[in-house]
Amino acid sequence: MLQDNSAADGQDNSCVPWMYSEIVKEHFFNPQNFTFEPPKVYSGLGLVGSPACGDMMKVWITVDEKTNKIKDFKWQTFGCASAIASTSMLSVMATENGGLTLDKAEKLTPQDILERLGGLPDRKVHCSVLGDQALRAAIEDYRGKSK
Ligand code: FES
Repeated sequence: MLQDNSAADGQDNSCVPWMYSEIVKEHFFNPQNFTFEPPKVYSGLGLVGSPACGDMMKVWITVDEKTNKIKDFKWQTFGCASAIASTSMLSVMATENGGLTLDKAEKLTPQDILERLGGLPDRKVHCSVLGDQALRAAIEDYRGKSK
């Protein structure tokens, strides 16, 4: 089982091992829709956090203008294993089965992501918020540009 004893506050939590579900590990080791190269063509871009402190998340979405569904979701982060696994899962949820409409994608919550991941250690739950916020920012960017 993969253990991470580091903490967002820099304290050593080595006496309390953090256990990750098999689904979290799968998405961490094989992140879905992650990209090293920013897409050249996309509909909306969302950036949250700060590259300077590490908790940065960038999301590019491509939207089908006829159906208003998310056709593609690419992302980058400097966040931790939990942020990587959470955003990987979010990218799958947003694009599976033909893609979510923007209205449905906006209703996704970090709790929905956690349920699909089989949970995260309590002190890592905040990491699942990064992708969610970046997706909302990308949707807002798209809507602003298409007005
Ligand atoms: Fe910062 Fe997870 S601790 S993204």
